[in-house]
Amino acid sequence: MAEIHAICFDHPWNEKALTSLLLLPSSVGLLCREEKAGLGMALIRCAADEAEILTICVVPDQRGLGYAHHLLEHAECLARKRGVVRMFLEVSVNNKAAQKLYFRAGYSEIGHRPAYYVDGSDALMLEKALTKDGQNRS
Ligand SMILES: CC(C)(COP(=O)(O)OP(=O)(O)OC[C@H]1O[C@@H](n2cnc3c(N)ncnc32)[C@H](O)[C@@H]1OP(=O)(O)O)[C@@H](O)C(=O)NCCC(=O)NCCS
Repeated sequence: MAEIHAICFDHPWNEKALTSLLLLPSSVGLLCREEKAGLGMALIRCAADEAEILTICVVPDQRGLGYAHHLLEHAECLARKRGVVRMFLEVSVNNKAAQKLYFRAGYSEIGHRPAYYVDGSDALMLEKALTKDGQNRS
């Protein structure tokens, strides 16, 4: 997971940081791979009936194939099984690929955090209500 994260982000989380997060009982990690090759990963943290997507990424040469969409759906499914009814996340205003992924998956904007990221960019705060049957609410 650390290797994938390092390929995907300018400020990646190393193995130690990811291990600490994954050891928390509230965390759920997902790894998408083909045979031994890691394609993507996601990490969420659940708290009572809410969960936050901490990170999600797909290696550059495997993007646009639906892997992130699958990771997101699977993360929501696992969260739902833990009693989560609401998912949250932050995404940079400059990250159009990730915004498209989230909006297509039914997330909507609930706030704005100015200068949230180390590059000075603002974050959009997004939210999605999870239904029991997994269908998006309109
Ligand atoms: C954002 C990211 C996870 C998307 O992964 P992906 O596997 O390419 O996404 P998918 O193939 O599942 O595509 C999901 C949707 O996003 C769209 N999308 C993916 N890449 C896109 C791009 N570069 N520009 C515009 N839309 C894009 C797809 O078209 C798809 O929409 P559709 O269903 O309408 O076709 C990937 O680009 C990535 O790892 N980026 C770097 C890390 C990152 O920014 N993570 C998000 C942090 S908030």
